[in-house]
Amino acid sequence: MKSFSTKPEYFVEPFLGGGIVSLTVAFENLAEQIIMMEIDPNVAAVWETILGKDIDWLCDRILSFNLTTETAKEVIMKPAITTKELAFRTILKNRINHGGILADGSSFINKGEKGKGIKSRWYPSTLCQRIQDIKLIKNILIFKQGNGLNYLNEIMSQKNMAIFLDPPYTVCGKKPGSRLYKYNELDHKLLFEITAQTKSAFLMTYDNNIEVSDLANKYKFDTELVLMKSTHHREIYELLISKNLDWCRNNDSQEIPLITEDLYQIEPLEKPLFCNFNGVEELRHNEAGRSFGAEAGMKGANKNEVLQLPQILSTL
Ligand SMILES: C[S@@+](CC[C@H](N)C(=O)[O-])C[C@H]1O[C@@H](n2cnc3c(N)ncnc32)[C@H](O)[C@@H]1O
Repeated sequence: MKSFSTKPEYFVEPFLGGGIVSLTVAFENLAEQIIMMEIDPNVAAVWETILGKDIDWLCDRILSFNLTTETAKEVIMKPAITTKELAFRTILKNRINHGGILADGSSFINKGEKGKGIKSRWYPSTLCQRIQDIKLIKNILIFKQGNGLNYLNEIMSQKNMAIFLDPPYTVCGKKPGSRLYKYNELDHKLLFEITAQTKSAFLMTYDNNIEVSDLANKYKFDTELVLMKSTHHREIYELLISKNLDWCRNNDSQEIPLITEDLYQIEPLEKPLFCNFNGVEELRHNEAGRSFGAEAGMKGANKNEVLQLPQILSTL
């Protein structure tokens, strides 16, 4: 975002999930308005509630909730009637399910951190603080529930946008996205076709496999492998795709965008591998001393070196 000569009017994230990139762009004031889209009604309920009148209700509910296996099951089994209740249920599931996975079939954390089980990732006050922080930038956030692909089609001819595409990874192979997301079916060929006709700048992330590379080649997109680290510090290569990725290569003076931890990935990390968006200052360096700070951007990638990006948790 910082490589644009002028600030884009709109930053658009059609496959929002936890929306950490949109939030970072908003907090860093890197676009005038942020348009965020998500198809899953459970995830959408969280955004609608956080950006709506029930934000304080949601925080009170989180703060006053007495988390036990029984109370959690009660919330999860009960059909949520209102949007705000659905929002609470989604956040609860994200925090207590293994890997934060919301898709059907996911189960509670079993042992978790230091044997704390479902309480391993339940930090009510930190979570509420994060939610309340979003209030500060609320006026520039626009959330729509719907199909990101259709929306992309609608905005194809607009030139004043920066579009970030992080779709579910379900092109081929192991299809990791199918385990993580309830809504994981996507016409990836159509996504590439529409993206190729888009007049605004875009950046896509995908899992690294031959079908994705073939699609990128078909539309003469530029690609760059990046090394991601999962929550469990597992390293995995992903693919950045855009019209031109020169800005993120082998030039000390150029920056790649801040990649931070997920909004809900709030537990303190033993090693400061990644930023979280409230902890930018303290968690600025990874083990190799590379900067991930919001203000600093990421500098110093050498020629032919694989860029190392911290994880964007893609479960909500
Ligand atoms: C890889 S995740 C995005 C993760 C996100 N970058 C984050 O920071 O959490 C993909 C998201 O797209 C959503 N999704 C899937 N198909 C969609 C569609 N057609 N339109 C909009 N959202 C969709 C999924 O529900 C999921 O939340």
